Parts: sequence; structure tokens; C-alpha cells
Amino acid sequence: MRDRRFLHSSSTGHLNLGAGHLSLGVCDYPEHVDPASWPEHARQQRALGLRFVRLAEFAWSRLELRPGEFDWAWLDRAIEVAVAAGLQVVLCTPTAAPPAWLVEAHPEILPVGRDGRRRTAGSRRHADLSSPAFREASVRITQAMAERYGTHPAVIGWQTDNEFGWGDTAQSFTPAAQAAFQAWLHARYGTLDALNEAWGNVFWSMEYGDWTQIPLPGQAVSASNPSHLLDFMRFSSGQVAAFQAEQVALLRRSSPGRFVTHNFMGFFSAFDHYEVAAGLDFAAWDSYPTGTLDALSEWQLLDGDAARRYARTGHPDVTAFNHDLYRGLTGAGRLWILEQQCGQIDWAPSNPLPATGAVDLWTAQAWAHGADAVTYFRWQAATMAQEILHSGLLRHDGTPDRGAAEVAGIDPARYPSAPVRNRVALLHDYESLWLYGAQPHSQHLTYWAQTFTYYRELRRLGVDVDILHPDRPLDGYDLIVAPALTLMTPERVRHLRLAAQHGRVVFGPRTAFRTPTGRAAQTGAGSPLAQLTGARLLNFDSLPAGMSQQVGSYRADLWAESYAAEDPATEILHRYADGPLSGEAAVTRRGLVTLIGAHSPELIGEVLAGALRAANIPTVNLPEGVRLSRRGEVTLLQNWNAQPVAWCDLELAPVSTTFLRTAEVQARAAPHPTASTPAPSPAPSAHRLKEST
Ligand code: GAL
Repeated sequence: MRDRRFLHSSSTGHLNLGAGHLSLGVCDYPEHVDPASWPEHARQQRALGLRFVRLAEFAWSRLELRPGEFDWAWLDRAIEVAVAAGLQVVLCTPTAAPPAWLVEAHPEILPVGRDGRRRTAGSRRHADLSSPAFREASVRITQAMAERYGTHPAVIGWQTDNEFGWGDTAQSFTPAAQAAFQAWLHARYGTLDALNEAWGNVFWSMEYGDWTQIPLPGQAVSASNPSHLLDFMRFSSGQVAAFQAEQVALLRRSSPGRFVTHNFMGFFSAFDHYEVAAGLDFAAWDSYPTGTLDALSEWQLLDGDAARRYARTGHPDVTAFNHDLYRGLTGAGRLWILEQQCGQIDWAPSNPLPATGAVDLWTAQAWAHGADAVTYFRWQAATMAQEILHSGLLRHDGTPDRGAAEVAGIDPARYPSAPVRNRVALLHDYESLWLYGAQPHSQHLTYWAQTFTYYRELRRLGVDVDILHPDRPLDGYDLIVAPALTLMTPERVRHLRLAAQHGRVVFGPRTAFRTPTGRAAQTGAGSPLAQLTGARLLNFDSLPAGMSQQVGSYRADLWAESYAAEDPATEILHRYADGPLSGEAAVTRRGLVTLIGAHSPELIGEVLAGALRAANIPTVNLPEGVRLSRRGEVTLLQNWNAQPVAWCDLELAPVSTTFLRTAEVQARAAPHPTASTPAPSPAPSAHRLKEST
């Protein structure tokens, strides 16, 4: 019998799992093990405090044996066993793993990579979302599953597919994709003249005289036209969204009252996640903290020492960034973790064991950044196939692994449900990201690197952040940080102007460099926002690694751009002190709007600290690897270092979480009076803050 406390529907359509606090679950694969072991596994799962299992995301070949011939018996039984033990179920549509019979009947469903070569079956995600045969098969299995289990009392929600875009499959280069892209362009532009003008195709004689002449931008001799690339990314994103929308419609029809979500991947860029998440109840993502550490090294944001320091925990801000990003995708302000690393992974260049305490640390952090549920990946380590070296809560032999011991010690009641309410918004936009990618101009200062640098500085100052699409409502935010908003539309300009009437806004370099079709504005890069910033772009300088430009006592590296003040009200806060930009403005401010042109984490930190103080938002100076995260009445103080850290009057154990009372943290970290020059941030007096550890 279903425990009714675990499923309620509110008038806004939100579904809530859990008795007012965090719920824990696990990804289970009953089809991988002997059915005789299922009851004992379910019993152990409950004994660990787990409330639900996620099932079936790769089980298509076992559910539809031949086209239209279904075998539900094993999944019926697996669900029965889970229910008997007191577990609930999140079901997945299994379309991430097309079965061999489908590929045999329709080899055209296989995707073509950007190298122009057709890929084969033998792994997963080997399907082109533009293929009509694949779409039809996906609808058939989704509908059959939704009808079979949609109203099952144990089924609380659905995951669509699994990690869209995994294996570089969001962009497809098949003839079907090309025809669909050409039709999409025709619908978007109406005439070829309009398309040629929008893309600037007169450059290099790229003008098209027929829609069928337009290639996919994968195989060009050199770089493709960025406008062409931008539209291809938009088109591909739309294909992912449309594919998922077909599934969502079927699930909504046959499975009323259940949530529908999808498990996105950290820092994944190949489709617009806001667009794809639009029809979901909330977004979820798959958190593998030790695996995502490499991104930081690639972006030159982590030197060798730091990479070693965080090898067993991952970097706190990388994981927090993704929590904040995915919590903000739908506007529902909710989040699930549908896969949480609980041991060693198998796909990074090296895969160290997580530190003792890391599973607890990650779970607590996920909750503090808005997660209502954390699902550990996976129950038992697989004894077969591609992921033999990936750990689970149980070892290959069925004995509990290190992660299980930590999960057993987690008390979900310590993590009460509460909305996450923040005063600082960081704006993020996939179209800007794609334009950075199309014409990077700096090998290391990618869109993510630039955006993440601003986020990390905010987190170092103890500030909690909402990551939002720039066109979302911004009222209520006291500080809005837009690190890399390079694509500017007229509506966005108006929106930002309104936002700057009540809140402070900080822009980073390359802001408003590009029009909606990816060109530069005729009036100059940056000019669409010039009225707001009071500054006009003079020069931009992409610096090779090791070269820098001085800005007062700060050193800008990788990127430096300079401005002329356009308005008598524009103040120049910092100037370049050497190099070709010497004497020119590096940071300007006009009223509530600040523009930072120099890429220097320390300078960015200082400017942000000043803006936070001016907005009366409390800041603290946190030591390396120590972070504060607030949710409701509880504030977590986490130490991600392998060593103890003394901070205020507290001794923070290695890889640990200290629970503090939010009200006291806020009272202690008193707001600073408005100041134009930086002053040291007050740190809370810890002995007054500590509730328990
Ligand atoms: C995810 C995926 C899982 C599993 C996991 C291993 O990308 O969704 O099925 O492969 O990675 O870390």
C-alpha cells in the first residue's frame, strides 16, 4: 500500500515527495541481477533509509521484445517487490537505449557524428532524434509504459529518457536532420534573402539560392559561419525539446498527478536547457563531483595542487553551480538529483575513491541548494558490460561498499523542505554560450570559465546565488550579475534597464557584443547597452596564458577590454596601468550598473564585494574550500578540505558539515554600510552561530 504522505499535489501542480524533508533513493537495475535477490535488496534499501527506486531507463530490449510485443512481467514483479518493502518508484522511459531489432529494421535511426560517419549500435544513445522511425518507436514504448504503470499507486513520477545529448548526440548530421534543419530555417526566415542577410552570407560567397543548398555545419573546411552555427544549435535544441514533449504529453495523459522530469548533465551545453525543461515539473541533474573537476583544470581555474586537493571531493563551487543552475531551469525553484555519485566512478581520466565523508557532504550540499530528493547511482556495482569499474552502494559481491555506510548515517529529517530564497541572481544564457564557442577568441576563457569565475567569487564571499535565464523576471533581486551575456536583443535591453532601476547590475566582458543572429551590432560591440552602462567599448585584448595586463595592483589575464566613458555620470573605478590599454578604463560604474572588462578573479571579487555591500547583502571572507549554503532556517558550513580548518571559533573537521542557524548567521554577518571603497568583510562570530555538528 502506498503511504499517502509521500504524494501530494498542490494547486500549482507541484508534487512533493517526502514527509517535509529530503528523500533518499537509489538507481536500481533489477534486470541486471538474479530475481531471487530482489526481495533482499529491497529490504536492504529500506533499512538504509531509502524511500524510492528509479527503474528502467535502459530496459527497452527487455520491455519490448519485438515491435509492439511487450513483456511487463518482470517489471510488474520488480515494482511489487519494491512496494512490499515500502519503497516508491520513479519510472523512466527507456528511449536512451534503442534495441537491436529497431536498428535492424531502421538503420537510418543511427546518428551521424560531426565527422560525417554513421555511428553503430553497441552502446547507448545511438538514435537520431530527427528520425521519424525513431520518433515513432519512442512514442510506442512511452505510451505503452504510461498506460501500463501511469496510475500505479507506487509510481510517483517519471524521468524522460536519460541524459539527452550524452556521447555528443544532441547534434545529429543525418540526411533527416539536414532536411529538418532546412525546413526549420525556411519557417524561421521565410525567404532566402532574409536568411542570407541575417547570417551575412555575402562574406566568402556563402549566399544560398535554394533551401536544399544549406549544409549542416559539421564538415566545413574551416570554421563555419557563427550565425549558421547558432541557428543549428537552436534547431538541434528544438529537436530535443520536441522529442521530449511527445513523451511528456503521453505521460501527462496516462499518468496524472505524477511529476515528469529529466536528468540533465553538469555544465552540458549542447542544447538550451531552459527550452528543454520548459514542459517539466522541475529539473533534475546527475551529480558526479569527482568527475567534473577536470573542467576547472581545462579552464585554467585550478592548478595542479588544487586539483589534488579536491580530487576526492570535487570542487564545492562546481557542484553548487550546477545545483543552482538546474534549480533555476523551470522557474519552479525545485530540484532533484537523479544520480548522485556514491563511490568511485569510471569515466574520468583517473577515478580516485571519494574521501570518507564525501557522500554525506554531497548529499547535504545538494539539499542546501534546493534538492528535495537525492538518488544514489547505483544500487549494486554491475558485474557485466561497460560500467564494471563503477561503484554502487553494494560491491559486485553484494556486500555494502563505503558509500552505503555513509548513507546509513544520513538522517534526512535534518534536511527540512523549505524554499531557497536568494537576493543575488547570476544570469546565464545558452545562446551566448554557443556564440562564445563558435568564436572563442581565447582558448581558455570559455563562456563557462568566465561565468564560473564570477560565481566562485560570490561563493567565496559566502553569498547564495540563483542562476537564471536573463529574460526571466528579475524583480526582488538586489544584485544581478551577468558575467557573459554576449547576445543582446532589444527586449533584453529593456528588461535589463528595468531591472537596473531597483537592483544593482554587474556585467562582465564581451557583454552585448552580438545581435540575435550572431552578428556584431552596426553601432559597435557593446553599444546596445551603452545607455545603461554609460560606457563605449574601445579595445579588447585576448591574452595568451602567461601574459597579463596590470589594473592597479591587480593582474588581468586571458582577457582585457577597455572603455570610454559615454556619460558624465560614468565613473572609472579601475584603469589599466600598462600594455596597449594603459590609462584606459578597465571597470566603470554608472549609477547602479558596473561593467568589468578585465578578467582578474581578485579584481572581480573586489568589485562584487563592493556591489554586495552597497546592496546591504552580508558577506564573509571564507577560507579556501569552506562554503556556506542557506536553506530556510538552516545554514550549512561545509569544509571540503582534507584537513581541518579553524574558522572563527570553530574547528571544522575534514570533509564535514556543520549545521548553523540561518537567523544567527545573518545577524552576525551584519550588512555593511554603502561604500565605494572596499572594506574587510565581517565574519560571523562562530561560537554564537553553532547549533550542532
Ligand atoms: C551517467 C549515466 C548513468 C551512468 C553514470 C556513470 O552519465 O546516466 O547511466 O552511466 O553516468 O557515472
